[in-house]
Amino acid sequence: MDILKKIEMFREEEEKLRWEGTFGDYLLLLKEKPWVAQSAHSRVYNMIKDAGIEVVKGTKNYNFFGNQLFGLEESLERLVEEYFHPAAKRLDVRKRILLLMGPVSGGKSTLVTMLKRGLEAYSHTERGSVFAIKGCPMHEDPLHLIPHHLRSDFYEEYGIRIEGNLSPLNMMRLEQEYGGRIEDMLVERIFFSEDKRAGIGTFSPSDPKSQDIADLTGSIDFSTIAEFGSESDPRAYRFDGELNKANRGMMEFQEMLKCDEKFLWHLLSLTQEGNFKAGRFALISADELIVAHTNETEYRSFIANKKNEALHSRIIVMPIPYNLKVSQEERIYEKMIRESDVSDVHIAPHTLRVAAMFTILTRLKEPKKGDIDLVKKMRLYDGENVEGFNAVDVSELKKEYQDEGMSGIDPRYVINRISSTIIRKEIPSINALDVLRSLKDGLDQHPSITAELRDRYMNFISVARKEYDNIAKNEVQKAFVYSYEESAKTLMDNYLDNVEAYCNKAKLRDVLTGEEINPDEKLMRSIEEQIGISENAKKAFREEILIRISAFARKGKRFDYNSHDRLREAIQKKLFADLKDVVKITTSSKTPDEQQLKKINDVVARLIDEHGYNSTSANELLRYVGSLLNR
Ligand SMILES: Nc1ncnc2c1ncn2[C@@H]1O[C@H](COP(=O)(O)OP(=O)(O)O)[C@@H](O)[C@H]1O
Ligand SMILES: [Mg+2]
Repeated sequence: MDILKKIEMFREEEEKLRWEGTFGDYLLLLKEKPWVAQSAHSRVYNMIKDAGIEVVKGTKNYNFFGNQLFGLEESLERLVEEYFHPAAKRLDVRKRILLLMGPVSGGKSTLVTMLKRGLEAYSHTERGSVFAIKGCPMHEDPLHLIPHHLRSDFYEEYGIRIEGNLSPLNMMRLEQEYGGRIEDMLVERIFFSEDKRAGIGTFSPSDPKSQDIADLTGSIDFSTIAEFGSESDPRAYRFDGELNKANRGMMEFQEMLKCDEKFLWHLLSLTQEGNFKAGRFALISADELIVAHTNETEYRSFIANKKNEALHSRIIVMPIPYNLKVSQEERIYEKMIRESDVSDVHIAPHTLRVAAMFTILTRLKEPKKGDIDLVKKMRLYDGENVEGFNAVDVSELKKEYQDEGMSGIDPRYVINRISSTIIRKEIPSINALDVLRSLKDGLDQHPSITAELRDRYMNFISVARKEYDNIAKNEVQKAFVYSYEESAKTLMDNYLDNVEAYCNKAKLRDVLTGEEINPDEKLMRSIEEQIGISENAKKAFREEILIRISAFARKGKRFDYNSHDRLREAIQKKLFADLKDVVKITTSSKTPDEQQLKKINDVVARLIDEHGYNSTSANELLRYVGSLLNR
């Protein structure tokens, strides 16, 4: 559909949703849909909840954040359950400014933007609809019209609590335009829109000397003073500061901790008492979520400053650390590349994964338990099986440090290095080695890396490189076998038949001649040796496998090639050992003969068709693996 058509449809939609009526009509509507009177915090919470929640391994995953923020599930659960949820229930946290604290490029701005865009969309839905006094620049809550002495009666009848006072402007309008009859005052449905300055605001401090508090709380309109006679006439005031405009929704406060104190005090009164001072008027009530973000260093120095003490207790700090899962980091890069100018470049398989391994390693802290290294920790965090460790170990590892993920390499750095690799290489295809090289070169230019850290990171480059070498070898060797899975399965079945006969002290039957034969000790050992099982340990290993098979059978599950990690590894290594020479000779021959050439072409074709390479990256991979095998 063409875009103009879509714009028209959107306008029609909004037209259909419009509602206007008297305050009396609005009260009738409230009987039917009491939720439209909810507070700003409650609306944010319901927006997140309505998008759906899935519980994965005991952690809540919010669909609302799920398609843009990856690997932050635990932090987001904490944010929602410790801030939005209680705030929605009018508990005290609502009265504090929400401060997201995390390392640079860790997704804080993305999160805030999602909340803003989310609220805009939510205000167009039934559950998220918002109503306001018509013509009010602050979209004041119509319920403020109910006089204080009747509010407990109102609560009895409607079950809705009212907070806040009618603003001076609407007080005056009520008298002058409606003759004091609140039931006649007009109410309308509003739609949040940052562009139209409705319900969503952003305050970003400029030079502290020149910045005016008016940006936050509005200002006197001098051109109208003559008309209205006095500065304290609310009609001579422009309620157009960010705090005014964000009423009923949310305001993002950028660089809050860098801001002059006088700005912060306004916020304090707003969050604490639900009102702020503007011009020469009585306090103005407002209901909005205020979100700021900062990094750890800035926050520490803010805390260290005695002058800010009174502010501490009025801010709630929510940590937003970096993602610590390799697979999620890969998704972050994929998303960032998709959104960039280089999205049409071919990125060889495993490239982003290898870069992500490097990045995650820089973010992890050394495990305190002696028997686990950083690479294993990385795998465990990503939900992989690591022999000898279980879920309890993972949660213990996570408890070792409170502040893990607050430092390390940020995703934007990686994306910048990938982009510069692409530009430098001049062919539309990059691989893991290109990226590792570029990450390594970039470390010298990285602004916040000390010499000591640099050495540590260099080491992680080598670790990631080793991981890649294994992946690359596996990939090529698999591509050399016509059907890898098939071969692995045949070899395993053969092994299991022999193991069964061995353990039962039975004989096997030759498939061709039908003759009885002894278990093939040589075959079994050639597989077991691949994973270092000694002659003394072989019996125990074989028996363990049979026990595992019968355990599977009891549960009605099929024991297959993937059911036993070590056996799978052994089979894989055995297959590759048999293949190694072929691969070595074929890939490294400078002048391949006809047969070798055919083999290479087959392998390249398989890499392209089945594994996602293009011809450049497939050939690069073969050359690299050839050189590895010849070392
Ligand atoms: N956990 C994450 N999930 C998805 N994208 C992320 C994540 N962390 C960072 N990003 C991406 O990295 C970039 C920088 O993030 P940004 O939100 O600007 O960070 P911050 O405001 O914390 O400095 C954005 O493109 C963002 O989408
Ligand atoms: Mg930011």
